[in-house]
Amino acid sequence: MNEKKEIVRKGYDKIAREYQAYRHTFDNAEVLKEFSSHLSKSARILDAGCGAGIPFARLLFQLGFEVVGVDFSANMLRLAKKSVPEAALIKGDMTRLGFRDNSFDGLVALYSIIHIPREMHASLYQSFHRILKPGGLMLVCLGSDEWEGEDEYFGARMFWSEYSLKEALQMVKSAGIRLLSGKHLIIGKERHYWIIARNHKDDPK
Ligand SMILES: C[S@@+](CC[C@H](N)C(=O)[O-])C[C@H]1O[C@@H](n2cnc3c(N)ncnc32)[C@H](O)[C@@H]1O
Repeated sequence: MNEKKEIVRKGYDKIAREYQAYRHTFDNAEVLKEFSSHLSKSARILDAGCGAGIPFARLLFQLGFEVVGVDFSANMLRLAKKSVPEAALIKGDMTRLGFRDNSFDGLVALYSIIHIPREMHASLYQSFHRILKPGGLMLVCLGSDEWEGEDEYFGARMFWSEYSLKEALQMVKSAGIRLLSGKHLIIGKERHYWIIARNHKDDPK
């Protein structure tokens, strides 16, 4: 595996319990409400980089959606299996999603794209476009500033990678996914740009 991704995978394997214990300090209720209001009751949702499955995968399941979670950290996924056993939880790399075209009505990636090496972001959005149905909905949070580097996170080595907001939004648009809403939110102590966007197929980008 790519060295940068391996830092992230090993990092989350090491800090899975600490991260889960800290996760409740991020209240995503507002974005969940907005995202879910656009979805039909029987929607099938992918949580890409689902982590320990709380709160988002579990809340999506409680709202009645079919939830599929993907994460490449075995220890995060083990916690997710306890938190949301009803979800289909798959160990895998979200930059290599093997799902069929048009598999999902919705897709969320919360605090996970910021860990993907940015040279892979354009192809990541293209794969989201491919596996989302036409009209499918995407909720992601992006970093606000262009930055790539490593630091220590809960005592583990960690890697982060972000484009400028302008470039990131252009990539989303180029993939055929169009913004419905976008806003900076400070949740917990972290500031991210949250977007809800709709997938468009069969029409000019
Ligand atoms: C900050 S945590 C967020 C977890 C969850 N989305 C949440 O909101 O709590 C980032 C998660 O993304 C996962 N992740 C990062 N890069 C990944 C990749 N390339 N493939 C699969 N999972 C990845 C990590 O293992 C970790 O569980």
